[in-house]
Amino acid sequence: MRAVTWHGRADVRVDTVPDPTIQDPTDVVIEVTSSGICGSDLHLIEVMAPFMSVGDVMGHEPMGVVREVGSAVTAVKPGDRVVVPFNISCGTCWMCSQGLQSQCETTQNRDQGFGASLFGYTKLYGQVPGGQAEYLRVPFGNTLPIKVPAGLPDDRFVYLSDVLPTAWQAVQYAATPPGGTLLVLGLGPIGDMCTRIAHHLGIDKVYASDVVPERLARASARGTNVIRSTDRKEVLQAIQDATDGRGADAVIDAVGMEAHGSPLASLAQKATAIVPDAIMEKVMQVAGVDRLAALNTAIDTVRRGGTISLSGVYGGATDPLPLMRMFDKQIQLRMGQANVWRWVPDILPLLTEGDPLGVDDFATHRVPLEQAPEAYANFREKKDGAVKVLLQP
Ligand SMILES: NC(=O)c1ccc[n+]([C@@H]2O[C@H](COP(=O)([O-])OP(=O)(O)OC[C@H]3O[C@@H](n4cnc5c(N)ncnc54)[C@H](O)[C@@H]3O)[C@@H](O)[C@H]2O)c1
Ligand SMILES: [Zn+2]
Ligand SMILES: [Zn+2]
Repeated sequence: MRAVTWHGRADVRVDTVPDPTIQDPTDVVIEVTSSGICGSDLHLIEVMAPFMSVGDVMGHEPMGVVREVGSAVTAVKPGDRVVVPFNISCGTCWMCSQGLQSQCETTQNRDQGFGASLFGYTKLYGQVPGGQAEYLRVPFGNTLPIKVPAGLPDDRFVYLSDVLPTAWQAVQYAATPPGGTLLVLGLGPIGDMCTRIAHHLGIDKVYASDVVPERLARASARGTNVIRSTDRKEVLQAIQDATDGRGADAVIDAVGMEAHGSPLASLAQKATAIVPDAIMEKVMQVAGVDRLAALNTAIDTVRRGGTISLSGVYGGATDPLPLMRMFDKQIQLRMGQANVWRWVPDILPLLTEGDPLGVDDFATHRVPLEQAPEAYANFREKKDGAVKVLLQP
């Protein structure tokens, strides 16, 4: 089959790789019909590169049609339409039963000291072949795939794999009080979806910061107050002006480790390109290489006693944080990979009964798998209006 494969920094290609097969009686194999490119994929071709290997199949936001099922699979059958969550979770362990699927005890990567495996991700998370491919092997066929109805376009459901539950969790963790103000940092697909969900859930005042004009325009069109800057002082001023100088009740960081405006860490991240992987892997496990600009903006702009919700991914082991300031401000901090299945029952009705979150026209680009290298480049460089790209094998 054809698949998007990792070859190095800023280098993905489309290669022919072996077709996936049923390996366990509970496996299913799906034919992928749509597969998103995510901000997390960009980390793999930059900062997290030391933890990748040439030929790894990328992608963790797939949906498609079941083609083959193992002998013990009863929940889905060939021909069923399914979305595949980005966390690989068993659905039956203690963590899964708590709604903490990203910490699944069956797939936790204990040898690495990391949580549940993810599709198409680093060796820290199991190095499992991903879904930017024609076919995908999906384990836990009775509990992992999300069955969705036929008759509506893929766009309606594909974001259940990641964007929707990630943004939903970010908004829930932010816990904006009634009448309160929420600030979302970053208007990539995740930040954009956070603002949509916030409006849908009736959060009164929603602000968002970014500098990419088309991303700001999308958020502004749906009623978000946009701050056309990512400069810490400017964002702080804007949010103070909006809140009697107090700060936002809740701030979502939807940016993560590659924020603009962190020159030193930016150098450290570039070093990952020159220093041999074996050394850099060790350095990353003991040092701070994250660009913390967005997180620092969150710490400044949240009000005393407010909440910061991190959905942006960080990868540094010892990032410096202003703990005295965080303690003094009495900040509550919540974070983590989204627990996809935890939120599916809340989200699915919003996809089958109308389209209140605007998923039908959320994608800016739908391109054949073979065009993945150009699509990655455009998404990475924020060129050609690329906000959300769906690959269609
Ligand atoms: N927690 C999870 O489960 C989960 C799931 C999916 C994605 N993510 C993470 O969420 C983050 C966003 O993903 P995305 O797909 O929207 O990516 P993206 O890269 O398209 O979006 C990031 C946006 O942040 C903006 N930005 C950069 N620096 C900023 C700053 N200092 N202040 C404000 N905005 C700034 C950029 O201009 C860009 O528009 C990534 O870190 C990704 O890895 C986490
Ligand atoms: Zn993703
Ligand atoms: Zn589990």
